[in-house]
Amino acid sequence: MTGRYRELHARSLAAPEAFWSEAAEDIHWYRRWDKVLDDSRAPFYRWFAGGQLNTCYNALDRHVEQGRGAQAALIYDSPVTGTVRSFTYGELRDLVARFAGALVRRGVAKGDRVIIYMPMVPEAVVAMLACARIGAIHSVVFGGFAPRELAARIDDAKPKLIVSASCGIEVNRVVPYKPLLDEAIHLSTHQPSACIILQRPQAQAALTPGRDVEWEQAQEGVSPADCVPVEATDPLYILYTSGTTGQPKGIVRDNGGHAVALRWSMKHIYGVQPGEVYWAASDVGWVVGHSYIVYGPLLNGNTTVLYEGKPVGTPDAGAFWRVISQHGVSVMFTAPTAFRAIKRDDPNGELLAKYDLSRFRTLFLAGERCDPDTLRWAEAILRRPVIDHWWQTETGWAIVANPMGIEHLPVKVGSPTVAMPGYDVRVLDEEGRETGPDTIGAVVVKLPLPPGCLPTLWNADERFVSAYLSTFKGYYLTGDAGYRDSQGYVYIMSRIDDIINVAGHRLSTGAMEEVLASHPDVAECAVLGAADSLKGEVPVGFIVLKAGVTRPQEDIVKEVVQLVRDRIGPVAAFKTATVVQRLPKTRSGKILRGTMKKIADGTEYKTPATIDDAATLDEVTAALRRIGYARKKE
Ligand code: COA
Ligand code: AMP
Repeated sequence: MTGRYRELHARSLAAPEAFWSEAAEDIHWYRRWDKVLDDSRAPFYRWFAGGQLNTCYNALDRHVEQGRGAQAALIYDSPVTGTVRSFTYGELRDLVARFAGALVRRGVAKGDRVIIYMPMVPEAVVAMLACARIGAIHSVVFGGFAPRELAARIDDAKPKLIVSASCGIEVNRVVPYKPLLDEAIHLSTHQPSACIILQRPQAQAALTPGRDVEWEQAQEGVSPADCVPVEATDPLYILYTSGTTGQPKGIVRDNGGHAVALRWSMKHIYGVQPGEVYWAASDVGWVVGHSYIVYGPLLNGNTTVLYEGKPVGTPDAGAFWRVISQHGVSVMFTAPTAFRAIKRDDPNGELLAKYDLSRFRTLFLAGERCDPDTLRWAEAILRRPVIDHWWQTETGWAIVANPMGIEHLPVKVGSPTVAMPGYDVRVLDEEGRETGPDTIGAVVVKLPLPPGCLPTLWNADERFVSAYLSTFKGYYLTGDAGYRDSQGYVYIMSRIDDIINVAGHRLSTGAMEEVLASHPDVAECAVLGAADSLKGEVPVGFIVLKAGVTRPQEDIVKEVVQLVRDRIGPVAAFKTATVVQRLPKTRSGKILRGTMKKIADGTEYKTPATIDDAATLDEVTAALRRIGYARKKE
């Protein structure tokens, strides 16, 4: 270590205002802030209060004005449609200004919400930036969510308008989005005044007269809209993420802190220079897509790649290497699960030999725990640094990482490395005392959180406080458990709540349990995340049937599996459930999910002293064995 990281981190905590006001010089402001950190309403901290800027201006217009107009801003690479298309900064700015004009014509104004329910097409990025341009607040909903999930978001965000597309394209099927959208609007109480629909050649959507208008038609004859100055503290977007109940949490992102933090992160964490090609293989429906497909790279003057495909099957496990070499990618970001999928199909990385990766420098992984095998395998075949880093939708950028633009710290397998500047990461025991080195506890961040992190939840200040700030006063609860070693390396081990991570997608088992419990034959249920060699975790359901139910159990299992797919969506990957007579519980009636998970994974467990009836564990073991789990690890 050169000490540069340590020095920067210490400075960021000792003098946060000086640290972040220096970083804010890299952003264009219409009006400078009055206060870097406004703590007058703590714990509701505000960054750059009084400042005015426009995020779209910083992401597009500014670069055009400074001579990047002809540089590629976005490369759309879509193996599922056989398309590769590049948009310069000048072109993207014009497309965004025109679509922003269409939004204005339909009455969308500063502060209005717009829901974007779209696949990975350039129009999704155009719609996001167009909202930012006019100060409207976008809320992108991932295409793999079912109508009910979309409806919950419509009712919470109350969008004036929805932007969608006729379909998404998965590996072997076209997914018509429009019927899902129609159903969601039917289910929701709030009604948008209009929907703008992109018709894709793979499926034509039927438009609802008076409400729906086609993408091109919506823009006919409109004047391009200019950037509208917004307050640094005004919301840029809302992104819903799984909470501990079926009601998702609307994470709010502000404009000022977000722009400052993301630009800083591009340079200091990812180590990319303006002009280079940066690729995050995620989806615009997730936080990684927001921060590192759209805003981060564009704020930094990079070329970003929008990839509509999978790591395998589009057409093969060499797809990532093809994209890296074809577009000259310098830095890539994806989830470990993508690399597990590639490893499964091409264990020796033979497809890599076909491509020129000479411009490729670093691979970043996040979204789920990175298992040592995957990290080592990626390092061995790429012969480049592979960097695990840890963050969450709430923070919008890395809490813990290896800051490649500051100093490449030694990699310790199993650790995403160290706390980033601005984050005062601590590990606390149940009483709120700091644990010593190597002792597991709740991973928390001492307040205030740095710029870019959530200032609150949408229309839910109280839930913000109760979910994140009330367990340990003065600290933000990340929801993850882990420890630090004596050198400050952080290890993230598991969640302390019911969130599971399926192929890098964050899901709530509590929400799945709510769905199972709604089946008329189900008396009780539990869902846990069982270890999976490809997806990291997959949900497994246990159901106890109501007395007197005589229907075949296989039928009921099939029905609950379908119910989760219909209510939450295919992304839940809920494919396995089993019927048990009773669930293991404590004497006070708490279901012993932790022990059940250990049994499912075949790891050592102790029968909890508080168990009501130890025989229930044997029943669970037998049920799990019947569906291929609970095998002892070799
Ligand atoms: N619209 C509609 N359906 C979608 C969808 C979308 N945008 N995205 C996924 N789905 C569906 C899939 O088709 C699949 O349906 P199925 O049950 O009929 O097969 C289901 O949701 C689960 O999808 P997924 O978790 O992606 O699994 P998969 O088996 O299709 O692919 C991987 C597995 C590992 C290849 C894939 O998850 C992947 O590429 N992961 C990369 C990680 C990533 O992007 N993480 C985001 C955070 S960084
Ligand atoms: P999301 O909000 O979807 O980005 O999910 C965030 C959660 O994913 C975190 O709270 C962790 O539980 C998990 N996670 C993300 N990145 C990592 C990582 N590098 N190591 C371990 N867990 C991670």
